[in-house]
Amino acid sequence: MLVGSSDMRTSQKAKDVNASSARTQRNTRTVRKLLAWYRATHRRLPWRAPPGKRQDPYAVWLSEVMLQQTTVQTVTPYFLKFIRRWPDFKALASADAAEVMSAWAGLGYYSRARNLHACAKKVATDFGGNLPSKEEELLKLPGIGPYTAAAISAIAFGRKAAPVDGNIERVLSRLRAIEEPLPLSKPRIRDIARELAPSRGSGDFAQAMMDLGSGICIPKAPACLICPWHDECDGRKRGIAADLPRRAQKKPRPTRRGATFVLLSEAGEVFLERRAGKGLLAGMHGTPVTPFLEHALDDIMAAAPARLTYKRLPSPVTHTFTHFDLELDVHVACVVSPEEMKGPGEWAPLKNLSAFALPTLFRKVIRAAVADAPTPTKKGRRSP
Ligand code: ADE
Repeated sequence: MLVGSSDMRTSQKAKDVNASSARTQRNTRTVRKLLAWYRATHRRLPWRAPPGKRQDPYAVWLSEVMLQQTTVQTVTPYFLKFIRRWPDFKALASADAAEVMSAWAGLGYYSRARNLHACAKKVATDFGGNLPSKEEELLKLPGIGPYTAAAISAIAFGRKAAPVDGNIERVLSRLRAIEEPLPLSKPRIRDIARELAPSRGSGDFAQAMMDLGSGICIPKAPACLICPWHDECDGRKRGIAADLPRRAQKKPRPTRRGATFVLLSEAGEVFLERRAGKGLLAGMHGTPVTPFLEHALDDIMAAAPARLTYKRLPSPVTHTFTHFDLELDVHVACVVSPEEMKGPGEWAPLKNLSAFALPTLFRKVIRAAVADAPTPTKKGRRSP
């Protein structure tokens, strides 16, 4: 018997309905397993409420901004310092910008600190000190991108939202055995995250994926045997979990070179400049630097803050930024009469550098210089 086209359409529809309901059931089971695991094993973190409870939105926002590109271990002491000193949006909004930058020093990506302060001010003035809860409102605030908006909306307000960072990309690529390489696979991973995000418990679900990504579904050797998604994970079933996510080949990170001048006084101080308001480490303190060096014959001493006899340290200080590696030659001199130094800058006591907005790069530079300091020379003597 011939089947009419309307019958074929009906049977295709029935198949679609069945497939969709099977997918929903599978997602429900997947979510349930992860939430049960999270209730039993969640990490205790200072910004985290116990499962099922709401956290203070200020603490969630502060932690999420700090955790952008930074590990839980590094963030924890900074989070505690900030929350004690500035316990809510209004307190942070009325803080002095220089104090916020100094308290942030060492955490890196300093535009985050400027945005953090700007965001606190906006929340204090435009929202009476209460963070908005919807992703689209959060996205309009300084320093809040799609990941952070979704994380805050879910964790602080229990809204259905699906934050996806690098760890969650890895977890979901494995769960659904996505072989398409990143970054091409991002839209598909986002769809999977949205499909999974539960209406109730979305904050716990997001934090559970973060814990899974940091403790079990780790990059090279995932601990599949103890994973709550052991039976759900397509990557594990196909034996390819450890190889996922695949990535399009990255361009190698270039190395840039420069030099810096560390002037030390006999009174135990170091000469610091405030960096320009735009560009690398903008607005932070640092020892004076040359522009990036392009040629071996570039005149380094033209950028020196004073004509002194400098000793060049045997090896450069190295530091990794997002887009390049930096090698900085360190030239050290001891200054007998710091009061004669002209030009902008200030002498900072080596024992009290935490009062300055000094990025890790310059802390490394000063540490290397102090360990290898030359004997004092009279200010005004020329370099040979
Ligand atoms: N990474 C980013 N956000 C996090 C959070 N809330 N808990 C743990 N790790 C995170």
